[in-house]
Amino acid sequence: MKIRSVNLNDLDSMVAIEALGIEDPWTRKQLAESIQNHRIRIAENETGIVGFLIYSTVLDESELLQVIVLPQYRRQGIGKSLMLDFFQELQTQQVEICFLEVRKSNEKAQSLYLKLGFKSIGVRRNYYKTPTGKEDAIIMRKELSVSPQ
Ligand SMILES: CC(C)(COP(=O)(O)OP(=O)(O)OC[C@H]1O[C@@H](n2cnc3c(N)ncnc32)[C@H](O)[C@@H]1OP(=O)(O)O)[C@@H](O)C(=O)NCCC(=O)NCCS
Repeated sequence: MKIRSVNLNDLDSMVAIEALGIEDPWTRKQLAESIQNHRIRIAENETGIVGFLIYSTVLDESELLQVIVLPQYRRQGIGKSLMLDFFQELQTQQVEICFLEVRKSNEKAQSLYLKLGFKSIGVRRNYYKTPTGKEDAIIMRKELSVSPQ
């Protein structure tokens, strides 16, 4: 498995992974805009793209916007590898703080983030849609150690 930068040819695979992976998937339009406007890291093995991570950076702060792995490749360390690659990217950009929002019910992702040093810092009430209503977002934050240039 390798992790690389995104290119426009990756869009179809990204749409397919979103469609399989979660209840409120990013649309093709959102993903196409993300390829233009955000930073994306692609996890790829011999079968093709198996996951990806989307983030944005403004000055010394970054926001994790999405991390997703194809269902059949989950629990094999790919999500963690994408996150560790992300931290390396942030270090080269001299980013000091990273934020994210995660559904309160998404305990798998929260477990991943907590293991990697994120801490819960707040809640956005009723932030996400669910099939039956709304759900809170947990806001998490991690400080990164920046090496001197
Ligand atoms: C969250 C997600 C990216 C994790 O990817 P993954 O490749 O399965 O994760 P890893 O195999 O690297 O697991 C790393 C850690 O995540 C947590 N985790 C992952 N899957 C889990 C599960 N089914 N149950 C509990 N914890 C889980 C564990 O802490 C795990 O560490 P461990 O294996 O030492 O117990 C994946 O479940 C996914 O794509 N989910 C749907 C999209 C999503 O919810 N993204 C987060 C948006 S905020």
